[in-house]
Amino acid sequence: MTIPPWHYAAAESNRRMFSRIAHRYDLLNRVMTFGLDGAWRQAAAALAAPTGCRLALDMATGTGELAFALASRAEQVVAVDISPQMLAIARAKARGRPGAGRIQFLLADGLRLPFAADTFDCIATGFALRNVVDLGVALAEMHRVVRPGGRVVCLELTRSPSRLLASLHALCLAGPIPALGRWLAGDADAYRFLSTSLSRFPDAQQLAKTMRDRGFRRVGYRLDCLGPIALHVAIK
Ligand SMILES: C[S@@+](CC[C@H](N)C(=O)[O-])C[C@H]1O[C@@H](n2cnc3c(N)ncnc32)[C@H](O)[C@@H]1O
Repeated sequence: MTIPPWHYAAAESNRRMFSRIAHRYDLLNRVMTFGLDGAWRQAAAALAAPTGCRLALDMATGTGELAFALASRAEQVVAVDISPQMLAIARAKARGRPGAGRIQFLLADGLRLPFAADTFDCIATGFALRNVVDLGVALAEMHRVVRPGGRVVCLELTRSPSRLLASLHALCLAGPIPALGRWLAGDADAYRFLSTSLSRFPDAQQLAKTMRDRGFRRVGYRLDCLGPIALHVAIK
C-alpha cells in the first residue's frame, strides 16, 4: 500500500503528542471516564474473542490495557504502537499482570503492519482509529492481517445520536477535559485534540460503512453510555 509523504509528518506529530502524555495517560483515562474505561476494554476483548483464540493483535496498544484484556482470552497477543514511551509503560505494567507473558509489545506502525496477510485470529483496537493519520489505510491493514473469518473490534469515542447528549459531551471535551489534561498531565493541547479528532471522525453509522467499504462483512455496532462510546464488530 502506498503511503503519501505527508503521512510521515502527521504520524510523527501524533507520536510526539502521545509520548508526551504517556506517563499520565492511564490516570487521565480513569478520571475522565469515571473508571469505566477498563470495562469498555474488557467488552472489546470479549467481542473480539468470545470463545478464546490463538493469536490476537492489539493495534495501537498505548499503555497496553486492551492487550491485557485480550491476554485473558488469547493464547498469544501481539500489541503494537508507534510511541516508544507508551510501550515502555505497557512493558513495565506487564511485570505484574496475569497472562502478560503471553503478550509481545512491538514498536510498529498500524498503517504498515509488519505482518503477513491472514496472520491473526482477531484484532481489537481501542481509542486509536480517531488518532491514526489515515483511517482507510488503518482499516485496510487490519483487514489484510486478520485471517478470513477472523473478527475485528474497534472501540472508539463517537458522537451521541442524542443532540442533547452530543452537546453536553462537546462542552465537556471543550472545557473541563483540556483543563484536566493541563492539571494532571501538564498538557492541555493533547486533551484538546480529543475534541478536534472527534469532530473529524465519522459517526458510528459512517464508520460501519467505511469498514464495509474496506472489505469487512457483517459489520455491526453498539453504543454504550448513551452514545459517547461505540463498539464496532466486523468479520473478514
Ligand atoms: C488514545 S491512545 C489509545 C491507546 C490504547 N489503545 C487504549 O485503549 O487506551 C492512541 C494510541 O494510538 C497510537 N497510535 C497513533 N497512530 C498510530 C499508528 N499509526 N500506529 C500505531 N499506533 C498509533 C498512539 O501512540 C497512542 O498510543
